[in-house]
Amino acid sequence: MRFHILTLFPEMVEQGLQTSIIGRAIEKGLLFVETVNIRDYTLDKHKKVDDYPYGGGAGMVMQAQPIYDAHLAVVEKVGYRPRCIYLTPQGEVFSQKTAKEMANEEELILLCGHYEGVDERVLEEIVTDYMSIGDYVLTGGELPAMVLVDAISRMVPGVLKNQESGETESLEGNLLEYPQYSRPEVWNGKNVPSILLSGNHQKVDEWRREQSILRTKERRPDLFKKAKLTEAEWKKYGENR
Ligand code: ADE
Repeated sequence: MRFHILTLFPEMVEQGLQTSIIGRAIEKGLLFVETVNIRDYTLDKHKKVDDYPYGGGAGMVMQAQPIYDAHLAVVEKVGYRPRCIYLTPQGEVFSQKTAKEMANEEELILLCGHYEGVDERVLEEIVTDYMSIGDYVLTGGELPAMVLVDAISRMVPGVLKNQESGETESLEGNLLEYPQYSRPEVWNGKNVPSILLSGNHQKVDEWRREQSILRTKERRPDLFKKAKLTEAEWKKYGENR
């Protein structure tokens, strides 16, 4: 899977993605993250990439030409037009479902905006998807782009050591993950739930399933309504759903 990130702050993205699991996957050649510095494509002799908004108002707007040419350079290199995602609070809210779906792409272009925004005309020309990471406003698209790269990458086969953990954890079937415990057996006067020490795998699985359901119901009632439960489970846990 190859990501091409169009940004004015390539170092920020590079540094953010070179550690831990994503860094390891890049080293292994499972992922390829290329940053493209939009400023390298400006035709302005002072390397300017933004200007005042027509109609007035606060802040600056990123101009169309450098973004268009940076995008064109990626398209020419790749040989076709990959999906191009513009990170913006005006987009569809990113979810685990979208992360999984996007992990099937060979190439993805992520466009990071800055300042008050980007000239609408270049967005109309190049953007295929508008994505938000939540209902709050950040100073730029770099953090959201990193969020997408992380969430999408871990759905790419081989990136996680134990592929299973990509499937069984939080949000599969709209359920939160069950609580986890590790050694020691007693810490700070608190015991590990005894069922986890029983060695009875079926009982452990049942307990975990129940914990997932109860936790989702309590902490994320919005998700719980959409959870994938059996009829028997809805009867048991779902009153006043
Ligand atoms: N750019 C600024 N805020 C954003 C957000 N919440 N999601 C995606 N891109 C953004």
